[in-house]
Amino acid sequence: MKVLVLNGPNLNRLGKREPAVYGSQTLADLEAMCVETGRHIGLEVEARQTNAEHELLEWLHEAADERTPVVLNAAAWTHTSVAVGDACAQLEAPLIEVHISNVHKREAFRHHSYVSAHATGVIAGLGLQGYIAALHYIAAQS
Ligand code: DQA
Repeated sequence: MKVLVLNGPNLNRLGKREPAVYGSQTLADLEAMCVETGRHIGLEVEARQTNAEHELLEWLHEAADERTPVVLNAAAWTHTSVAVGDACAQLEAPLIEVHISNVHKREAFRHHSYVSAHATGVIAGLGLQGYIAALHYIAAQS
């Protein structure tokens, strides 16, 4: 089964960006971990990252049309984008919202998510392991 792992803005900076919050592993490390985990548990993982909101919307539309499960870290758009929330509302296959950091321990503006109301589940604060947990959940549903 195909799964999309979608990462939003600034996540291409993993490894350089605020390592005390986001760790020292890079986006390439994360994507390789997800693909490798998928291989072990029978998922065909396609990992993508964008800093352009319209591109994320198009990927979510693609997932809606193809009924593809999604692991989504919408990063800052989580807290700001009605459009990303509206795109998530169109998904029928599982949608797992992931945040590397525990957003609830951080600034108040990170406590609201436009994604969560449409998500099957939400994982925050487990670092990159959150993506792996999300993939295991999706594999267990298939
Ligand atoms: C994040 C948390 C968001 O608040 C932040 O804007 C990010 C990353 C996380 O993975 O912890 O860019 O989604």
